[in-house]
Formats: sequence, C-alpha cells, structure tokens
Amino acid sequence: MTDEYSNLVDNPDGATPLDPDELVGLKFKHVSTRGELDQLEQAGITEGLEWLAKQKHPDVLSEAFVFELHRKLFGSVWKWAGTFRRTEKNIGVDPVQVAIQLRLLLDDAKYWVEYRTYPPKELAARFHHKLVYIHPFANGNGRHARIMADAVLTKLLNRPAIDWAGGYALEAMNERRNQYVAALRAADDHNFSALLEFVGA
Ligand SMILES: Nc1ncnc2c1ncn2[C@@H]1O[C@H](COP(=O)(O)OP(=O)(O)O)[C@@H](O)[C@H]1O
Ligand SMILES: [Mg+2]
Repeated sequence: MTDEYSNLVDNPDGATPLDPDELVGLKFKHVSTRGELDQLEQAGITEGLEWLAKQKHPDVLSEAFVFELHRKLFGSVWKWAGTFRRTEKNIGVDPVQVAIQLRLLLDDAKYWVEYRTYPPKELAARFHHKLVYIHPFANGNGRHARIMADAVLTKLLNRPAIDWAGGYALEAMNERRNQYVAALRAADDHNFSALLEFVGA
C-alpha cells in the first residue's frame, strides 16, 4: 500500500478494503481522505439514482443491468466500475466463481418474481443478501446491492423501496449498520429473520 492512499482504507466494519491495484483506478488523484472519497462516491450515486429513476422498464435481473447500474453509480470515481472483481476479499465468493454465481442468482430471482415465491420485501431482502454475498465488484457492493434490491421492488414488483438507513447513515459506524451487518451474517447461516425484520418485511 502506498502512503498516498493510506487514509482511504480505514473502512467501517463489514466493508471491503481495496487492493493497491484497485486504488490505482481512482479517477481523482487529489483525494486524500476517506471523507473526500465518500463525498465523491455519493455525488456519483446521486447521478446514478437519477439515471435509474428515468429507466421505464429496465431488465433489472440481467447481467447487463447489474453491470450498468454499478457503472452509473461508481463510474465517475472508479475506472473499474461495472466490471467483475478480480481479487479475493474478506467477504464474497472466490473471484473465479463470481460470474457463475451471479448467473444462478439472477435465474433464481427471475423465478421468484415470476412465481411469487416470497412476499416482495422478503424477495428483495433475499436477493440483496445473496448479491452482497457474491460481492461481484471490488467496492460499492453494499450500496449497489441495496439499490438493486430497491430496483427489483420498484421496477418489477411495483412496490416502494426499502428504508435501508432508517434515519441513519448506513455507510458509517452506528447501531443501524451493526444490525444490518449482523443480519447479513445470520443470513449467511440461512437464518433470515433478523434481515426480514431489518427491512420491515
Ligand atoms: N458478513 C457479511 N455477509 C454478507 N455481506 C456482508 C457481510 N458484511 C458486510 N457485508 C456487505 O458488504 C458491504 C461492504 O462491501 P463494499 O463492497 O465495501 O460495499 P460498499 O462500498 O457499498 O460499502 C456491506 O455494506 C454489506 O452489504
Ligand atoms: Mg466499500
């Protein structure tokens, strides 16, 4: 890790640290603190959400949409936005498994939508959990997968989005984030009750 990036890697609990290779993909060379990076990413996310709001009938459960949304959210900040992760992380499947696992998840989720396997919020929560579990990207997986879940609800199921933050900043360390990460960990062990409660299902 080079010194110029050392302030960008004090991640909150449950966030994926970036590799030196990935940090090189930062489009703003003057960024020196985690706070500045958060602000740049947030500006990109705002633009990405505006793009999403304009999509009338997007094919949400397609690989192309998964990548395009990540690029719209993070492409102003990271060169590798919208491309598969190539490095091993503390969270997520082996990088060589990402493509196939994502394919399987999208197929499952299409089936869940078509056959109403779960109530809408539960469907979105299960989809969200599996998507962050796969961790397709080097960074931004939590934010991307929350927006993906909301896109499933709003664009495919005509339901309101989830109130993920519940009045908190979910990117920062706080009680709500602790609950969120604990609920994801329980879901890793196939126990979904905490996550369902978290999303208000
Ligand atoms: N134990 C876990 N199991 C599954 N997902 C997790 C776990 N811990 C954290 N996560 C997810 O990973 C995200 C962090 O990954 P990251 O790529 O840094 O996303 P972001 O940059 O949007 O925060 C968290 O927001 C959460 O969604
Ligand atoms: Mg992160």
